[in-house]
Amino acid sequence: MKPLAPLNPPTFLAPMEGVTDRTFRHMVVEQSNGGVGAACTEFLRVSDCPPKLERILKELGPKLDGVQLGLQLMGNNPSILAASAEVIGETHADFIDLNFGCPAPKVFWHGAGSALLENLDLLEDIISSMVAVSPLPITAKIRSGINNDQQVEEIAKRVEQAGAARLGVHGRLRIEKYSDPADWTRIRRAVNAVSIPVIGNGGVSCPADIRRMQDETGCASVMVGRAAIGNPWFFAQWKKWEENGQAPTPPTEEMCWEWLKSYAATIQDGGAIPRHALGKVKQSLKAMIEEGLMSRQHRFAGLRSQSLDDFFALSGAKKA
Ligand SMILES: Cc1cc2nc3c(=O)[nH]c(=O)nc-3n(C[C@H](O)[C@H](O)[C@H](O)COP(=O)(O)O)c2cc1C
Repeated sequence: MKPLAPLNPPTFLAPMEGVTDRTFRHMVVEQSNGGVGAACTEFLRVSDCPPKLERILKELGPKLDGVQLGLQLMGNNPSILAASAEVIGETHADFIDLNFGCPAPKVFWHGAGSALLENLDLLEDIISSMVAVSPLPITAKIRSGINNDQQVEEIAKRVEQAGAARLGVHGRLRIEKYSDPADWTRIRRAVNAVSIPVIGNGGVSCPADIRRMQDETGCASVMVGRAAIGNPWFFAQWKKWEENGQAPTPPTEEMCWEWLKSYAATIQDGGAIPRHALGKVKQSLKAMIEEGLMSRQHRFAGLRSQSLDDFFALSGAKKA
């Protein structure tokens, strides 16, 4: 199995289904000026058979310079997941991540995602079956528990014992969904329980939080999720802040519109229909407004736009 190098820089763009498609990941990485250490696809659900090579390559998109690229799988059948690892081994992915955190009821009640946190024998079996055949390192991403955090150390140990090369720990429980604050003491407990590198995750909302999470938990690297949806410059800001101690200058509305235009154009170049591109830029607009980078005045008209032309006509609209 190939070794997995430490993340340099120690930052990770979180996988987010419906958000971090290959275009989004690529754009965030490109404008980060070396501020992203790793990125990962949204989860690929594996049920009856391994995903086809073509599908995997589509999810991965091109190699990202200087960034470890992972393919995330979600499933609960060790032999099918092991066969999937062999297929992924033929690609340019750097690692395969396993999703043991998804809280969605339709996933949970089918015994996948966070449901594995209460079936640790199966969780271990999945990881070790994959490790046995995979040319690529296997990593795991967990929530800190389902209803309580009593087993966070035990879960982390079982992941390590099964042969995973790295562990991502989301400081929230399944029942906490995405509520704030995420409990970083759980990340620290996982760090203390294992010797594989731990990626801390949950509730990072500004660049300074990255250093704070490392200091408070001892985690090797930090994963950023929703803050990067509304602010695709998050990692670039963090890098500047790390290098110069400069407080980040907020991106302007013009930069946001340019980003949205480029996003829509690139998704369509990749084969997406305009309606799909419209849905994606609406999602980004909403997140940018929530992040405070764009004015609320665009919310109503933007989210009701029927076409990309209508949507981008707003970029010329005067402020109220
Ligand atoms: C819309 C959305 C989709 C997500 N999809 C995935 C996914 O595909 N795989 C995964 O491991 N986590 C997924 N997550 C969880 C994030 O990776 C991350 O753990 C979570 O958002 C907490 O980090 P944050 O507080 O920085 O956002 C998703 C989260 C959101 C909000």
